Amino acid sequence: MADMEGNIEAKDYGIGTEQSSGSFFLKGNESADWGVKNRLARIFNPKSGNTVMLAFDHGYIMGPTSGLERMDLSIVPLIPYADCIMCTRGALRSVVPPESGKPLALRFSAGSTILTELNNECLIGIEDAVKLDASALAPMVAVGGTFEAKTIENLARCADFTSRYGIPTLGVTAVGKELVRDARYLGLATRVCAENGANFVKTYYCEEGFEKVVAACPVPIVIAGGKKLPERDALELAYKAISSGARGVDMGRNIFQSECPVGMINAVRAVVHDGAKPEQAFEIYRSFLKA
Ligand code: 5RP
Repeated sequence: MADMEGNIEAKDYGIGTEQSSGSFFLKGNESADWGVKNRLARIFNPKSGNTVMLAFDHGYIMGPTSGLERMDLSIVPLIPYADCIMCTRGALRSVVPPESGKPLALRFSAGSTILTELNNECLIGIEDAVKLDASALAPMVAVGGTFEAKTIENLARCADFTSRYGIPTLGVTAVGKELVRDARYLGLATRVCAENGANFVKTYYCEEGFEKVVAACPVPIVIAGGKKLPERDALELAYKAISSGARGVDMGRNIFQSECPVGMINAVRAVVHDGAKPEQAFEIYRSFLKA
């Protein structure tokens, strides 16, 4: 039992100084629960306000994708440079060292492959997400697809889990082959995710009007990289997205399919966290190539 006698008398009450009400640095999440904010603040760097998420969940749809054949060899060495990893529970348990200490955005829906695409997905059990100490639940949402209603329902269920367990929901907008990735579509898909309870949304960059997509989405947006581009172009894509208001990237192929993945993730970090221009970031990439 604490000593009743001999304690130093309490006297630092800060009289005259208002207790800080503590605003939160990520838009649309000011009213979220402490656990949600705490996990978001692990994913997003509170200093820059941005994040570099490393996505390697492609295998759940695409099988042994180029660069992901041996995730133990290609991905594990990249983890120290990421702010957050995004993967399936299968990849996590089989290759990611528990000591890595990185926040996890857990791929939280399943049921599609490249043979059928954007399918009638189901959600994974929340108990597993809790056991894995997930920092975000990431269900796929296929706005405009045959399974639109089911995937939006999945997102809504995730938002229920967020309310119950304090684990943020990351809405992942999947765009069917028949749909165009323009500002109109992306604006609709991201807004639908936010309105249904996503704490942040992953989508694609578009050349025309991306700043409107970001402005009309009441929670932060991170962009996927998409298909492999020349490194300079991928850095430009990241730069334009950040300049238009995106709060980071959730990038896969443009990192792990690069000739120098460590150089690429460091170059992307410079853009996302330090405001490096594409040319400066490309020099960072090249410096790793030479080394
Ligand atoms: C795959 C995904 C990926 O996480 C997403 O597309 C990001 O990766 P990339 O930068 O390679 O597009 O959702 O199902």
